[in-house]
Amino acid sequence: MAEELKLKDDYAANFFKVVLDRRSVRKYTEERISDEDLKIILESGRQAPSGENAQPWRFIVVRDQKNKDFLSSVGKNASGRRFTGEYLSKRMQDRFEGLQDPEKRIQAFKRLTSGNVSAFMAEADTNIIILGRKDVWDAPFDTSAAIENMHLTCTSLGLGACWLVAPCIDVRDEMKMKNYFGIPEEFKLFGILSMGVPARVANPRPRIPLHELVHNEKYGEYLYEKPEEKGGEA
Ligand SMILES: Cc1cc2nc3c(=O)[nH]c(=O)nc-3n(C[C@H](O)[C@H](O)[C@H](O)COP(=O)(O)O)c2cc1C
Repeated sequence: MAEELKLKDDYAANFFKVVLDRRSVRKYTEERISDEDLKIILESGRQAPSGENAQPWRFIVVRDQKNKDFLSSVGKNASGRRFTGEYLSKRMQDRFEGLQDPEKRIQAFKRLTSGNVSAFMAEADTNIIILGRKDVWDAPFDTSAAIENMHLTCTSLGLGACWLVAPCIDVRDEMKMKNYFGIPEEFKLFGILSMGVPARVANPRPRIPLHELVHNEKYGEYLYEKPEEKGGEA
């Protein structure tokens, strides 16, 4: 479907290409991100919209290996706990229902419950911790807009990035992070954007087709019909 869209000029086409090319990239080379590129990424976060233009975000740039290792260990523990819970409650088994090969299933479960899926922050060139002011109503949405702006900017600069919330969800992890990074009480941790030069291009993850997502005027009437042939996306 996306390939069939008619984009009216290069400006729209270039932007949409960035949207389509964006992936969660979790493997990086050892190449550094230049200071110029880092500043562009941060500036694109600053330009994000926010409710009442409150701009509740603050960014901590983490590039020192010791600090990246700390982030990574908090993320690893957090993901390990979360996925172990999902495994014990059988949610994970439901999620991987389609994966029939028993060996592959076990490998996937092991990888998730180990928490290693979030350890890549140690290998990222840069991690940006995104904080938001607690006294701003719309802070979760505002900070998400800033993160997405920065993520797309990474793609446009040929960099790879991954948005993480694993180390920010559990209040115990948040306390650890706040103590370590000296984050004042009036801020909450909303996310981390890890980034670097991509070591490989990740495959696109599946998306729900438009014909299943979009309702017309009221919920229940779909705006788009399911395409007849190819069985592809609307
Ligand atoms: C709010 C949010 C939280 C996420 N948290 C994590 C995370 O903690 N760890 C991780 O590896 N990826 C995380 N992701 C990345 C998603 O797994 C990824 O966006 C999704 O699988 C779709 O893949 P794509 O980004 O390559 O299209 C998060 C993404 C979002 C938007």
